[in-house]
Amino acid sequence: MSKFTGLTDTYTLHNGVEIPCIGLGTWQVPDGDLAYNAVRDALSIGYRHVDTAAVYGNEESVGRAVRDSGIPRDQIFVTSKLWNTVRGYNETKEAFEETLRKLGLDYLDLYLIHWPNPAGFRDRWKEANAETWRAMEDLYKEGRIRAIGISNFLEHHIEALLETAEIIPMVNQIRLCPGDTKADLVAYCRDKGMVIEAYSPFGTGKAFEVPEFKQIAAKYNKTVAQLLVRWSLQMGFLPLPKSTNAARMKENADVFDFELDEDDVAHLAGMTGACGESWDPDTVDW
Ligand code: A2P
Repeated sequence: MSKFTGLTDTYTLHNGVEIPCIGLGTWQVPDGDLAYNAVRDALSIGYRHVDTAAVYGNEESVGRAVRDSGIPRDQIFVTSKLWNTVRGYNETKEAFEETLRKLGLDYLDLYLIHWPNPAGFRDRWKEANAETWRAMEDLYKEGRIRAIGISNFLEHHIEALLETAEIIPMVNQIRLCPGDTKADLVAYCRDKGMVIEAYSPFGTGKAFEVPEFKQIAAKYNKTVAQLLVRWSLQMGFLPLPKSTNAARMKENADVFDFELDEDDVAHLAGMTGACGESWDPDTVDW
């Protein structure tokens, strides 16, 4: 079951902040017209949640689109992420200011540590994350960010963070799609009160090649994209489908008029490898 009826319906973070239940992903969307138009299109279609990151290189266009949209700032949820080359208290605060400057905004709705164990800090990631988190907590307390969280963190990274954290992350954003459901990690995060965001809900496009998804989608008279966004919501995730195409953005958001049978939800969850697998955050070379 999913309680949602439209793009402005929300999950509630553990600090009471409301976060729209589907967000537009912008990974691999180059800065400039493409990113600008994608965000403008998404907002005019009704999306109220945009997910970017310093490393995507498109914060300037994303922010400009948010500002030009004519939609009041407090009705758009904007997320960005701290990249792996930055750790430490002052460094994190500086990177945050740079992100805000690029976006042209005066606060962020959500700021995430992008990866738990960057290649450049592998010998001291725990201490590095602890200092970074302290800066994020202070920015949060100062009212510069409405919510703070993590991305790509596994249980042991979270355990380590919580040794010194004062504030439990409000979100963990991880790769989640059929066959890559990280059930133990999701249960662990939920137990701590985190909302789970799902990036690459289409396996960065791999899902469109899977014949069985087409068969299941056809049963509901829906497309594969709609099947997977709906599945993500019924799993209790917050999907972040990426598209730069207005018609596909609209399609990806047209998921509130049908319900997948529990058997199909479970079957999709169990299709191991169907959409590829996640990188191991402890061995990535970035
Ligand atoms: P495009 O941006 O040209 O629409 P993910 O969200 O898992 O990272 O997947 C993103 C990929 O899926 C992109 O290549 C995107 O291409 C494609 N995509 C997004 N929505 C749809 C859709 N409704 N139908 C087909 N492809 C889609």
